[in-house]
Amino acid sequence: MKRNWFVLAACLALGLGLGVTAVSRSADDDETPLGKIMEKVQKHKATITKGVRNVASYKKSQEDIEKSAKEWSKLAKESKPLNDAVKAAKNQPEPQKKWDELMDLWGKESDKLAELAAKADSTQKDAKDQLNTINKTCTECHQVFRVDAEADKF
Ligand code: HEC
Repeated sequence: MKRNWFVLAACLALGLGLGVTAVSRSADDDETPLGKIMEKVQKHKATITKGVRNVASYKKSQEDIEKSAKEWSKLAKESKPLNDAVKAAKNQPEPQKKWDELMDLWGKESDKLAELAAKADSTQKDAKDQLNTINKTCTECHQVFRVDAEADKF
């Protein structure tokens, strides 16, 4: 009798385990290739935002900011061809053109931030302003091409 209970418990645990794996697996599968890139983008955003927060933080983090900004520039190039969203865009006369422009702009402004952070005598204020400029391209693209998501979340 004892043994039957053990088998039952083991089966339940196994079933539970499989269930959990299935759920987390399907969450991963939902992610589009662009969505995966954007998650990396978001991590670099955290690094940069923290880095430009104040003068002391900027002086300490210039190298990290430079690295993350360079990554952004690369990720912009990787994102550009992943343009499924262009088909779904609404109220946009030339969605493909707009997409390419925003991707190029994001890359270009990220290069500028990397150059800035690479200079020992650059200021925290300039870097922060440059981050704000970049953030505008994120927001603009999400507003146009991520219409079904909560637009102001990022
Ligand atoms: C030219 C367009 C464009 C630019 C620029 C852009 N994004 Fe996105 N982003 C998208 C699209 C489209 C999605 C929806 C992707 C999907 O789920 O397929 C997205 C999704 C995201 C997501 C959600 C990822 C997820 O879990 O699905 C985050 C976070 C994000 N973007 C952050 C950023 C940040 C930060 C920037 C700027 C530094 C940025 N994006 C710039 C188009 C853009």
